[in-house]
Amino acid sequence: MCGIVGYVGPSQACPILIDGLKRLEYRGYDSAGIAVVNNGKVEIARAKGKIASLETTLRCSPIHGTLGIGHTRWATHGRPSEQNAHPHRAGKATVVHNGIIENYGAIKQTLTASGRVFGSETDTEVIAQLIDHLLEQGTAAEVAIRQVCRTLKGSFATAILIEDRPDTLYAVRKESPLVIGIGRGESFLASDIPAILNYTNRMVFMDDGEMAVLKPDGVRFTDFDGERLTKVIKTVDINPVMAEKGGFKHFMLKEIHEQPRAVTDTFRGRISEEKGEVYLEGLQITDEEITRIRRVLIIACGTSFHAGLVGRRIIEDLTRLPVEVDLASEFRYRDPIVGDETLLISISQSGETADTMAATKEASARGAKVVAISNVIESSLARMSSHGVIYTHAGPEIGVASTKAFTTQITALYLFALFLAWKRGSITLDRRRELIADLVRLPGRMGEALETSATLKRMAAVYEKYTNFLYLGRGINTPIAYEGALKLKEISYIHAEAYPGGEMKHGPIALISDQMPVVALLAQDAVYDKMKGNMEEVRTRGGVLLAFLAGHEDGSLSRLAREVVRVPMSNPYLTTILLALPLQLLAYHIADFKGADVDQPRNLAKSVTVE
Ligand code: AGP
Repeated sequence: MCGIVGYVGPSQACPILIDGLKRLEYRGYDSAGIAVVNNGKVEIARAKGKIASLETTLRCSPIHGTLGIGHTRWATHGRPSEQNAHPHRAGKATVVHNGIIENYGAIKQTLTASGRVFGSETDTEVIAQLIDHLLEQGTAAEVAIRQVCRTLKGSFATAILIEDRPDTLYAVRKESPLVIGIGRGESFLASDIPAILNYTNRMVFMDDGEMAVLKPDGVRFTDFDGERLTKVIKTVDINPVMAEKGGFKHFMLKEIHEQPRAVTDTFRGRISEEKGEVYLEGLQITDEEITRIRRVLIIACGTSFHAGLVGRRIIEDLTRLPVEVDLASEFRYRDPIVGDETLLISISQSGETADTMAATKEASARGAKVVAISNVIESSLARMSSHGVIYTHAGPEIGVASTKAFTTQITALYLFALFLAWKRGSITLDRRRELIADLVRLPGRMGEALETSATLKRMAAVYEKYTNFLYLGRGINTPIAYEGALKLKEISYIHAEAYPGGEMKHGPIALISDQMPVVALLAQDAVYDKMKGNMEEVRTRGGVLLAFLAGHEDGSLSRLAREVVRVPMSNPYLTTILLALPLQLLAYHIADFKGADVDQPRNLAKSVTVE
């Protein structure tokens, strides 16, 4: 997820662009850059790292002009570097972009073959190259931009400067947010409201398939076919701090609700439903190496470890390879059995967790083939993985409690399991197509699951007073119980522990009382009746049950549980994600009700870089 800004008006653009980028830095901070039209010429300044690095560059070489665009990057294609920083220019066209161009590879290949020279590794550059290619053929600027929009597949919120149009700023939107600010004698654009709220509160929220042509005296809107559009100007009434959270009270809540988009971005461009194939561009493992794998080892910490536990079931089921999951902090101290037939999957949102990196080094030294799953391009873990990286495209996760990283890690593990099964021939084409179709349908079902937020907020008011919780799950949903308990612990400071449902009778059942709510996870699966049995055991001992159910039931749960929260079903692997969402919301609303510091809980850090 990146941040873009743009300005056209009577004022110097540079300070407005930098101010806007600073307010969008939470969206990404790998590199930043601006482009400003100065006496008809586009001047560009870019720097790797945070906005402060760009400011240093600009202090040495200021850029003047009253029309410009800016970008702060969260790398998805192409490592963080000045070369890959936006804006990207090709001839007369200069662009900044937020999103993922799925068909950039084919476009880049065609343009390169036609003699065009690319200067970056990014998907974004194809936008500038395509526009300039059409301008060279005499196509008018607006027509060229719309034609390119019809060619691109994927998501884009893009601002465009055309060198010989010194008073015009173009913007297009498809599946990435873009807002237009209407000032007095000046116009603005941004990925998110906070970037421009200090200059105007009159906003137009663009929809997919729309283009805006911004001039100092106003903005004109069309669709990608050139049809004029009438858009409503809305006056927004939110304070700038709130705006950085997109109107959500906390980053964590925003990130919980971003998960359908984050999961979509993680599989977008990596699947072919028709062919039943998965394409993982960051992998560097040969088919021969894949066939020689005899066992899989997954190591991680915290929430990433819980994702690994889910991944174990998926990979074992689809590939029939034995999978072992271990805590990174334990792995090194048990003289682990690792060889060159071992595939190690290291999972880390930050890619900087010291325990995980140390364990990865140990396994790698013993001959394992290492594939990392990380949310940060070029993170330390990404750079140490011998056989490539599968990036989750969740965008920056600001809240310390991991949410969208977790569900996109499961998504990445699902994709990897499908990839391995395809390469090893361990499941049929029909099965692959079916599993990919389930993945494509998942974001919609996640949206439905998130609609439980109001119910969970009501429940939080009742259950926030308890000091102990027990979470129960079975089978592939046991890790989700672990994750739900961790969420509650780390943001509300309420003690919570999780057990496999079948394990309760071997000890924890002694704890059951009406002073400890029991969260029971159920799905319409092979262990549904077993979990109901566990609920009966709790109920007959006076326990308080909160049931979280994926799928439908005969109404009998309501007899057992004080609350029944329902979410849609998918296949068992993806149902884990659907059950995780209400548990994240329960923890969030309880913590919020208690007035806890949700985004920065005490004693915790977003990335634990010490062992
Ligand atoms: C999860 O909510 C916690 N923030 C923590 O357990 C986290 O998952 C763990 O520290 C691992 O972090 P990583 O994914 O960046 O390696």
